[in-house]
This record gives sequence, structure tokens and C-alpha cells, in this order.
Amino acid sequence: MSALQCASVVALLVACSIFCSCCASTPLDVSSDARAITINGQRRIILAGSIHYPRSTPQMWPDLIQKSKEGGLNAIETYVFWNAHEAQYRQYDFSGNLDLVRFLRTIQDAGLYAILRIGPYVCAEWNYGGYPIWLHNMQGIQLRTDNSVYKNEMQNFTTMIVNMMKKEELFASQGGPIIIAQIENEYGNVISSYGEAGKQYINWCASMANSLDIGVPWVMCQETDAPAPMLETCNGWYCDQYEPKNSSTPKMWTENWTGWFKGWGGLDPHRTAEDLAYAVARFFQLGGTLQNYYMYHGGTNFGRTAGGPYIATTYDYDAPLDEFGNLNQPKWGHLKELHLQLMSMEKVLTHGDVSSIDYGNDVQVTIYSYNGTASCFFSNANQTTDTTISFQDNQFTVPAWSVSILPDCKTETYNTAKVNSQTTVFVKKANQAEDEPSSLSWSWRPEHVKETVNNGLGSVSANMLIEQKAATNDTSDYLWYMTSLDLAKDDLILGDDLTLRVNTSGHVLHVYLNGKFLGSQWGGDNGKYDFVFEKKVKLNEGKNQLSLLSATVGLKNYGPMFYDVPTGVAGVELIRKLNDELIVKDLSSSKWTYKVGLHGEDHQIQNVESPHSSKWISDSLPTNRMMTWYKTTFKAPLGNDVVVLDLLGMGKGHAWINGRSIGRFWPTYLAVQDGCQETCDYRGPYSDTKCRTNCGGISQRWYHVPRSFIRDDLNTLVLFEEFGGNPSNVKFQTNVVDKVCAAVEEGHTLELSCQGNGRAISSIEFASFGDPKGSCEAFSSGSCDSAAALSVLQEKCVGQESCSIEVSDALLGSANCGFGVQRKLAVQARCHH
Ligand code: GAL
Repeated sequence: MSALQCASVVALLVACSIFCSCCASTPLDVSSDARAITINGQRRIILAGSIHYPRSTPQMWPDLIQKSKEGGLNAIETYVFWNAHEAQYRQYDFSGNLDLVRFLRTIQDAGLYAILRIGPYVCAEWNYGGYPIWLHNMQGIQLRTDNSVYKNEMQNFTTMIVNMMKKEELFASQGGPIIIAQIENEYGNVISSYGEAGKQYINWCASMANSLDIGVPWVMCQETDAPAPMLETCNGWYCDQYEPKNSSTPKMWTENWTGWFKGWGGLDPHRTAEDLAYAVARFFQLGGTLQNYYMYHGGTNFGRTAGGPYIATTYDYDAPLDEFGNLNQPKWGHLKELHLQLMSMEKVLTHGDVSSIDYGNDVQVTIYSYNGTASCFFSNANQTTDTTISFQDNQFTVPAWSVSILPDCKTETYNTAKVNSQTTVFVKKANQAEDEPSSLSWSWRPEHVKETVNNGLGSVSANMLIEQKAATNDTSDYLWYMTSLDLAKDDLILGDDLTLRVNTSGHVLHVYLNGKFLGSQWGGDNGKYDFVFEKKVKLNEGKNQLSLLSATVGLKNYGPMFYDVPTGVAGVELIRKLNDELIVKDLSSSKWTYKVGLHGEDHQIQNVESPHSSKWISDSLPTNRMMTWYKTTFKAPLGNDVVVLDLLGMGKGHAWINGRSIGRFWPTYLAVQDGCQETCDYRGPYSDTKCRTNCGGISQRWYHVPRSFIRDDLNTLVLFEEFGGNPSNVKFQTNVVDKVCAAVEEGHTLELSCQGNGRAISSIEFASFGDPKGSCEAFSSGSCDSAAALSVLQEKCVGQESCSIEVSDALLGSANCGFGVQRKLAVQARCHH
């Protein structure tokens, strides 16, 4: 090495020690003022996105976080899930997708900040809002209020997490990525139900959190009385009108709901890219400086983590990254453009003087000026009328329900209603593993119910009906309630006209009498989960065996005292009409015997390694048989595409791949018939009842099989079927990009991409430069059209993984559109697969 080369290497090393390692180890001073979060004294704009680590896999994290960064975020937010980490009292699990430290390191390695919402009550459509069931079952406890047993446990867990973060130097004050932490969650929504004790509790939360001395700010979301120094934040679809009560704290938005979650029987929620961008732009127009997308990646409720009741296994949320981690386009791209604009104005937005001009009829111009520069937002909150405004001698058209951004107050660089990003259409493809037969071959075994159904055998007995989660500690969805009834010959209950009535507080019930199945019933319609099962029965003289199998489908996670909402069997009566008299035999205080969980669960038969996993039967495969286990093997689908399991034909149950749960399934649960909209108008306030699809369809048919669950050789799928189903149509598929479309206005750039995995654009199915009509998969030419567009696109894009074209007549030829026509380029391309 020459002296010169050597000197430059040394210079590089010195520079690197100053710059390269800045984010990994230099402690940051994170604070806040009236305007923004400050980092080392600099006001910052924080664009964050929620990714919940247990809802994906460690193998997916780097890609999800990288895509978030490419999407223009500078921070990732997550809750911490208490009941996942401490499912059993003082037994902790931080392995696999519960490896919080690894998740935060992945964020740090990507150079992003982290926001850690410890809760430890989190809501989040997560089972029981994140509370471990043992907590609920503790002596003398009252949750989420001024109760010492509860506070002690909350403090214990919170301190444990904080200490873990400190030990790993993950707080920004130690050089780590965490710039903000949260305590509690939306307590303001329920505080009034707790009276004085609620106020005491929230004050205690604040001082407990504060005493943990994390060196970065704490926030409380949706808590207008957040005690200082807790910073108050807003959650919702819009937070532009929100102002923190304490005017010396910044305007922050911890949950901008990018869509909504789905329940069994629920419709598919969609929030448009235009409306989401509008909400964000409005928030920054009106002084916001920190905003977090809830969710940026929603992911999957693996295992029994779905909250409820009746939260589906998918937690896609219509987020910018879809359940599987693919870009949900155009949402991801449209927001990315917005983020670039906002970040380019960081200084002026966080320091500038603000003035505004009201143009009437919900039209407003906001000007931020700083150091001789000015940036503008033009907003039109009108729901139907586009507007043209004059500003500094120029005319600007602002479509209804949109915000235009003009970083120099002269040129519009972005309008929330003008989507230039591509739309991506996915299709499901057959599993193309080598020599994989076209249909799977199955073996099966019955769930062993004889002992419970015929003999009423269980592990504990009590002279009462026990609330389900108290009995199971939520170690299983299933609980058998069994009683036997010895009737003397002259017992008045013997004879005709006898009804068995079971009052349940939910969620699913299967009834067996004297070894025979009597019927099943479940709640869920119209948001009601408790129900009454009634059936005419006939009893025997002598012994009768009544066995009830009750199943929960995710425990409640939200609402005042949600944790006290009971589940399971609540009352059992026999009612006989004799002449005009009603003879009622209340069995509620009879001797009940309990068995927690399924026999197959006890024996872990979903696990191929389990010694009990050999007793599978490979002939006379039953269909529509209740309480049945099915097993098959399959080969890993070739390539890297996302793998999904199509469970069409199955009823309700649980699925495991190589012993790992991919969640509950319930494809027979159809979505409600009403409440869909054929076309979705982005204009006007969004709510979860707007822009829904899939009326009457299967509420969840496909289930995510993370690639890391699949081995290169042979894999096993085990299904537990509770209601009865037919596995013959069950198949593995891959989810691949089929088409990409875009409609881009003149002056902007068309960017088309088949979104990775080395796929190229194979053909251009439609191209028109002029005034094309319609949308993806339904484009048509308008009244003017340049003949050159198609060949230009073919030349530049076909055979490429992505291509980019400036939309101008220089390249695309003159479209001869009339005066005043805003020209655009519409394209539909196919991707190779
Ligand atoms: C909020 C809550 C989140 C999540 C969201 C709905 O109220 O804070 O945890 O449940 O609603 O997805």
C-alpha cells in the first residue's frame, strides 16, 4: 500500500469513527418542546410505523424494516406483549419471534429509531389485550386500576423490560434506537369507569414510569390528563384537529389507523391511499410533527394470540406492507412520496412561523416561513367540490378532500388525491415444488372424546360452573364441562317435553348427552358472543351423562373492565312442561367435572416428533366429521414467493406446519351479506364501515405459512377440525405479482416494478398517453391518445424487473389532446411468473 493510499485509509477510518458509528453508540439527548421531539437539541419530524414483532418472524424482520425505511419512515413502533413473554407466572420467553432485543437491533442496524410502547396493557386485537391470564386469576387483584396486587405486577413487568433494554443499551440515551416509550394505552377512553381510583392509577403509572429513568420521553396515548412529564398523544383516523392539553408539548399522533382489523364473519376493510395521505398531510399542515402508522405492517395472529372475541388470524389491516410483507400498492408508494416531501421541509415545519389564509368553504392555505424560505399546504376539506384558489398571483386547483404540498409555495410537488404510484395485483399460484402431486394425501385420527363424552372423565371437579379462563388459565381454547345425573324412576324430569337449556357467555359450544352429539352453537352475530343453547332431550332412568365442550375464540381485549367479561358455560337447566306447570332442574350447582384442552393437544400430536404422532390412519379418510385431526406432507414450494395455505372446505380449527402454529382457521364463517361498497370514494371521513368488500364471502380462506416454518425437504401440515370439514381441496399456493398498473400525470415519473424475486415485466397489456379512462384491469383509451406510448413502454420495460419513464410528450409522442386536458400515461403490464 502506498503512503497516499495508507493516509486515505486512515482518514476514512477517522471519518468513520466520527460518522459511521454515530447512530449505533453515541448517546442521544432526546427531549421535546412545544413544537417537536428534539434529538440533540434539533427538532425532528418523526415518521414511524407499527410492526408488531410476534406478528411476523425474525427472518421477515430485516425485509419489513428495510421496506419501511425505503418507504420513507425514520422510526418503527411496537408494543411489548406481556402475555407472550410471561405466559406462565415468572417464566419468561424471549425466543424466536418474541426476541424483542433482536427486533430492536434489526431496527437499529437499519439506522432507524424505535418507539417502544410497553403498555403493558396494549389492546392491539391481541388476546386479552396482552394481559396474562394468571394475572386475572390472582387473589385480590383488580386490573387497570389503583390496586396494589395489580400495580405490583405491572411494575414488575415494566421494570423487567426497561432493565432488559438498559442492559442491551437500547435506549437512545445510551446510544440505542429507542427514542420514546409508552406506558398504559388509551386509558383516557375508560378512565371515567374507574372513578377516583382511575385517576390515582394513571398518576401512579406516570410516576412509576418516570422513576425508571430511561433517559427518553414517555408518552401516554389518548389520555388527555396525562400527568407531566408524560407526553399526551392522539390516536385515530384523523388527528389534525387534535391539540395536546399541555401547550408546551408537541402535537403527536401515535396511531394513524391505516385500515382496520378483520373479524371472523367480518368484511375486508380498505382505507384508500388518498385518504390516508390526506390525513397525514392535514396533520402536518396543522402543526403535527410526529406521526405513526398503526399498522405499517399488520402481519399474522399466529397461535392463539388473536384477541377478541373473533379477531381473525390475518392482521393485514390494509397496511402499507401487506400481511406477508409485500408492498401494498399504491398505498406504500403514495405515502413514500408524501414522506419525501415532508422530510424535505423538516426545518421549516419544525421552526417556521405559521400563518394561514381561510378561503372559506373548508379551503385553507397554511404557510410556514423560516429564514427567508416558505413552504405551503393548500387544503380542501370539502367532500365533493374541487376548488381553484388564487395564491400569490397564481391559480391552483385543489381537488375535494385533498391537500397540495408546495415546498416553495410556488410549485405543487404533491397532492394527496393524485396517486402516481403503481397498483400491484397479486394472484395465487399452485405449489410448484418438484414432483409435488396435484393433491395432498391425507391421514387422520379422531380426537379422543370417549372419556369425556361417555364417561365424563376430567381432572378436577367442583359443585359449580367455573368461568372458562379461570379454569383453563387460557392454556387451550377448549374446556369440557361434564356432569352426571342419576334419576330415580319417579323423577318428574323424566318424560316428554323436556328441554335442555345451556346459557353461555361464549364463544362456541358442542353438546353431548349420553354419548350422543346433540348440537353445536356459537355466538358472534351482531357482536354478541353470549347465547343460549336449547334442545329437546330425553333422559334415562338411572345415570345420564351430560358433556359440554366450550371453546373460546380469542379473549376480549378492549373496553371498560374488558378483562372481567366471562367466557364459557354460565348456567345449565332442564325444563319440563308437565301439564301447565314448568318443572325446572337447575344443574348449575351440580357436581361438574372439568377437562382442560383436547386430548390431541395434551399429546402434542401436531408435533411430528411427539411419540404419539404415529397413530395416524391412512385409509377411509372421513369428511365432515367433527373433532378430527388430519395430517399431510408437502414439499417446499420453489423460489422465495410467499406461501399460503388455502383451507377451502375446512370448518373451524387450528393449523400447524412442522409443529408450529399458523393460527386458528374458520373458512366456513362467511362474511356478512351487507355493508359493502362497489366503488370506494376516498372523499369524506373514513371509518371502518366505509369501503369494505367481500360481502357474503369467506371471511378468511388463505393462511400465511412463513417461509422460515418450511424445511427444504419434507414438511408436515396438521389440522385440527372441530366442526367437520373436507381436506381434499386444501392446498399450498404461492402469492405472486401478476400485474402492475399505473396512471401517471404528465410531469411526473412512471415507476413500474414487479416487486422483487427477480421477476421481469413480460408484456405490456395496455398503454395510453392522452386522457385514458378507468383503472387497473379496466383501462380504456380516451379521446386523445399517442400512438407511440405502447412501443416506448415495450422497449423500456419488457424484460426488466423495473422501469422508469418520465411522462412527457418528448418521450411518448404528442397525444393531440385538446387545450386544458391534463394528459396522463396509463399502463397495465404483466409480470413473469
Ligand atoms: C386502538 C388501540 C390499538 C388497536 C386499535 C385498533 O384503540 O390503542 O391497540 O386496538 O385501537 O386497531
